[in-house]
Amino acid sequence: MNIREFLADKVQSAMQAAGIPSELGPHLAPAKKAGFGDYQANGAMAAAKAMRTNPRELAAKILDQLALDGIADKVEIAGPGFINIHLADAWLGRQLSGVAEQATLSVEPTSAPQTVVVDYSSPNLAKEMHVGHLRSTIIGDAIVRALEFVGHKVIRQNHVGDWGTQFGMLLAELESQTQATDAEIALRDLEAFYQQAKQHFDADPEFANTARDYVVKLQSGDEKILALWNKFREISLSHGDEIYQKLNVTLSREDVMGESAYNDDLPVLVKALEDQGLAVVDQGAKVVFLQELADKKGNPSPVIVQKQDGGYLYATTDLACLRYRANTLNADRLMYFIDQRQGLHMQQIFTLGVKAGFASSDISLEHHGFGTMNGEDGKPFKTRSGGTVKLADLLDEAVERARALIETKNPELSEQEKAAVALKVGIGAVKYADLSKTRTTDYIFSWDAMLAFEGNTAPYLQYAYTRIQSIFRKAGVEPSSLTAQISVEAEQERHLALKLLQFPEVVELMIKEAFPHVLCTYLFELASAFMTFYEACPILKDGVEEPVKASRLHLARTTGEHIKQGLVLLGIDVMDRM
Ligand code: ARG
Repeated sequence: MNIREFLADKVQSAMQAAGIPSELGPHLAPAKKAGFGDYQANGAMAAAKAMRTNPRELAAKILDQLALDGIADKVEIAGPGFINIHLADAWLGRQLSGVAEQATLSVEPTSAPQTVVVDYSSPNLAKEMHVGHLRSTIIGDAIVRALEFVGHKVIRQNHVGDWGTQFGMLLAELESQTQATDAEIALRDLEAFYQQAKQHFDADPEFANTARDYVVKLQSGDEKILALWNKFREISLSHGDEIYQKLNVTLSREDVMGESAYNDDLPVLVKALEDQGLAVVDQGAKVVFLQELADKKGNPSPVIVQKQDGGYLYATTDLACLRYRANTLNADRLMYFIDQRQGLHMQQIFTLGVKAGFASSDISLEHHGFGTMNGEDGKPFKTRSGGTVKLADLLDEAVERARALIETKNPELSEQEKAAVALKVGIGAVKYADLSKTRTTDYIFSWDAMLAFEGNTAPYLQYAYTRIQSIFRKAGVEPSSLTAQISVEAEQERHLALKLLQFPEVVELMIKEAFPHVLCTYLFELASAFMTFYEACPILKDGVEEPVKASRLHLARTTGEHIKQGLVLLGIDVMDRM
């Protein structure tokens, strides 16, 4: 159950019974300060303003109608008309008992399931995936997991860059290199391969001519060139698959729907824009001028949809792609996880897409941008020599560092266990360090900070989980057998119980705003609440009697399940010991 929604319904009914028009909402939120109850409704103030009456008196009328027997043990009016709700301990205990057994804990399936198309990862296949692709890949994947968790239908779309003029050069290079070696070997390091192709292109006019010829051949569907292109694409995609697997990201080959897939639709789309009078010829190119996105001086925002030489652009493909997602995939909601710097591009696509009728205005079109990952010097993260950091290398280093850490923390684990733990901790640390930052801001990448066992990190949460599991080992109980009634008595117990019951609200917010960091903050607070509870409310010490012991064990189990489930939604694994 979502407590905030549940209480909001109750207050709303009370408002109606008190004669308040139903469009005036209860405005219910968790209380921000201690002593003001657990939840606060401040709808009385806005309602009083609209009805030109005294807010405290109106709040009193609402209170008279508010039926919270057995749910709250105190409801009071504070300040100018806030209604503060103090939930009853016994009610909290009852709500929480049984939650650990539910597959989705206290989260109920959404009452309004949607088809959500999510564009994430989407690297360019001409180059190796670098750290810049990390953010899109893992933020998108966390949101996808959360959407599915509450029952939405998700269609993942990996909009890989697998088309365009640079492929002429790359295919000519591949052809020349594969006379001596295998394509797999030539393309082992895509970054280096790209550099070689570029050098070749700049130094050798004959090669440059071949490259240009191959662009034309690729576009006209020449069989030999298409076969070469397929080979290149296949190898590059398999590099990506390895990374997704290592990152524990749910993308698979079926989700790849790259730029090339829209190729045949581009002339059709440009014609449609011209027929509608939207695209006009300007200096030989076909351009749409969007007055909707005009600058301060009133100059419209230009979107070039076809170049003078007939070539199409990133924007043309994205328009075709938008139309496909809206009409063929039938999206209710479309989410794009792309670097913030593509903000204007996305705005143009959305504005023009709706204007041209490619997507109905009922569809929620959302670009969720993100900031840059910077090095400790505050500049974009680079290798020591100033090159781009390959994602594969970064992940290997994370696992190595985690391994060294495990070696010092817990040398008695078996080699096999050490390797498994290092993988989960290393990858978890990199992902969590990113996901826990507000998506829209830049952040500083720091190995020491992300691998710390204290603070808001993956290792801290993974460690909290293992500590809980060790309680069960010591007690000699199977966690799944812990089902006793939870009774909430001590203050620390109450704080923990309420936190646990707020899980659905956090998942809801994460999905609504596409903000994984709210879940991270929650999990950190939850684990900290557990540590405080465990200090104040011993479980296995002598003198702790039944039923208190059983209740506390069940509370510990419930906490463990939440930490685990929360981390699963972030694509991070837990383990029983580390
Ligand atoms: N391939 C692009 C890049 O690496 C990102 C594509 C994002 N998706 C899209 N529909 N434009 O910058």
